[in-house]
Amino acid sequence: MDKKVAGLLNDQINKELYSAYLYLDMANFYSGRGLDGFANWYEIQAKEEQDHAMLMYKYLHNNGQTVTLGAIAKPDKEFQALSDPLEAAHEHEQYVTSLINAIYDAAQEARDHRTVQFLDWFIKEQGEEEKNSADLITKMGLFGGDAKGLYMLNSELAGRAYSAPSLQL
Ligand code: FEO
Repeated sequence: MDKKVAGLLNDQINKELYSAYLYLDMANFYSGRGLDGFANWYEIQAKEEQDHAMLMYKYLHNNGQTVTLGAIAKPDKEFQALSDPLEAAHEHEQYVTSLINAIYDAAQEARDHRTVQFLDWFIKEQGEEEKNSADLITKMGLFGGDAKGLYMLNSELAGRAYSAPSLQL
């Protein structure tokens, strides 16, 4: 396997685990304010990020690569308003998309077709993640301004259930 591509995927494991930690911090923010539905949404988001990290970890091992695990950074975003984590999550997903795209480009340059195919799932996943995070900002803008609307939105987000990734290795 191409060394540069393997190195980028190894780095991405850390980025995905950081994402999990960041989303747990968002769940933490909402839990502290009694918004258990929002907290549920981000707890599930955190689990999905751990799944992403594990898919990359397994993929590298399945292809004879050595994985090196580094320190996971402290979540360093400051949240004040109830909408702050929603905005930060959307920005973060756009950043993750740029990282996945960069690995995809490197895999294509290296003519590593297997990794390109593996990453196709992540390209699609990022499209969904960005849509979900943008939709949440829109809903919060529409309904979050009054107590009843916020209660309804919180109830909706409480209904999100975890499901394992559709990609299995
Ligand atoms: Fe692993 Fe939210 O992207």
